[in-house]
Amino acid sequence: MTINHPNFGAMDDKRVIIFDTTLRDGEQSPGFSMNIDEKLRMAEALAALGVDVMEAGFPAASPGDFESVTRIAESIKGPVITGLARAAVNDITRAGEAIRAAERKRIHTFISTSPLHMKYKLRMEPETVLEHVTSSVTLARSFTDDVEWSAEDGTRTDIDFLCRCVEAAIKAGATTINIPDTVGYAVPEDMLRIFSTVRQRVPGADRVILSAHCHNDLGLAVANTLAAVRGGARQIECTINGIGERAGNASLEEVVMAIRTRPDANPYHHNIETTRILRTSKLLSTITGFDVQPNKAIVGRNAFAHESGIHQDGMLKNAATYEIMTPESVGWQKTSLVMGKHSGRAAFRDKLSALGYGDLGDNALNDAFNRFKDLADRKKIVYDEDIVALVDDEVVRGHQRIKFVSLEVWAGSKAKPRALLELEIDGEKKVADERGDGPVDAAFNAIHAIFPHTAALQLFSVGAVTEGTDAQARCTVRLEEDGKTVDGQGADTDTIVAAVRAYIHALNKLITKRARTAPEALSA
Ligand code: KIV
Ligand code: ZN
Repeated sequence: MTINHPNFGAMDDKRVIIFDTTLRDGEQSPGFSMNIDEKLRMAEALAALGVDVMEAGFPAASPGDFESVTRIAESIKGPVITGLARAAVNDITRAGEAIRAAERKRIHTFISTSPLHMKYKLRMEPETVLEHVTSSVTLARSFTDDVEWSAEDGTRTDIDFLCRCVEAAIKAGATTINIPDTVGYAVPEDMLRIFSTVRQRVPGADRVILSAHCHNDLGLAVANTLAAVRGGARQIECTINGIGERAGNASLEEVVMAIRTRPDANPYHHNIETTRILRTSKLLSTITGFDVQPNKAIVGRNAFAHESGIHQDGMLKNAATYEIMTPESVGWQKTSLVMGKHSGRAAFRDKLSALGYGDLGDNALNDAFNRFKDLADRKKIVYDEDIVALVDDEVVRGHQRIKFVSLEVWAGSKAKPRALLELEIDGEKKVADERGDGPVDAAFNAIHAIFPHTAALQLFSVGAVTEGTDAQARCTVRLEEDGKTVDGQGADTDTIVAAVRAYIHALNKLITKRARTAPEALSA
């Protein structure tokens, strides 16, 4: 039977809906919180990537979450915008209010169905859970025709009870049924069996979209997701770079490219503009301060690198010998020498557009251009990576409370290192002149003097954006306060400036985090 979905119309049986939850499951994991401007920027990038559904957040979790879902619903066109809600009146009402302005909207409501979760987390009898399924979906339907219901810990749920819950949700009006592998426990055979059983046994299951939401605790999230699709799932829940609770969620770039690269094994199609994958992944890394590991499939630095002589020889003869997809198909471009200090604003704008930053406003463009000129004066060769590091730094940090203005450092083996630092706090310039055990320590002491805080420095690391002694340094700073940790990043040809930028980035993230309250019992 053909599915006629309220937001997608008549669905072709081979079409897979890509549901991105970077801004909800991804953002909810330690160290990945984003402020509203960062979420909006990410939401724009996800819409340009072509995701079908964007889970913008969990509106009842905090006023900040409510506001960011509302702002995304008001401004992002294209994808269906959804907000998460537990099976509770307040959660569903808040989600309904937050998504109200969206062009296409959905409420995603969930409740645990496994014996373990019902007994210890919910302290509810199965029959009570069943009643909640019906009442939560019915309430959600009063806000929108597109309602997704999820059986939290679905893969550890008794299959008969799971089928009864799914039947109740469909009867109450759910249009998508999600069966999450909440704790990443399943293996692909389980997924195939569970989805096939639900599809065959539950009346009405052929009229709704079945969905898979897999966590990566055993490193099987992508394999499990693809097995669910073979079992009948037609929506995939995933995140950019695979971020998410604990070991993360199925990575969007991996499932999407597995479908695109192996149509023989995965005869389905999706609407993702795959050439935008890399820039979306990089934007997320810049915003959150977490780079992906070098060997990460599709978006890792080494994903298309060929070092051994045998491989290089093969590549020169025919790239298909060692490449199963082209780097360009996911957005990689050959590293190229870009421009020098004589390049003008128009050339810089063209370069930005080729690198995927076509939509920078005039102010951000001017600031980035000035920093580029400054960089070109200091650095012999300016690579694409340098420009990306510099622009991301400028754009992502644009709206923050604490801003870097200038730094002078005196260091060496004789006098005690000294740092003269100028910052802008809420638009007001402040200066500090401090000493320390080394130049980085002196600069960090100056930050403390200007902006006193109790956060403890947990990690400080330095890497290089490109090669050579004039390469930009990329620093990472991890701060901890009351059990909350945040990572910040900064890049500059001067390592101490990069360190200060990274510290300020982390402090700004901590300020955002302080303003939010932890959602109660959001365990998924
Ligand atoms: O992992 C999970 O079960 C979830 C649900 C809320 C969908 O994230
Ligand atoms: Zn999850």
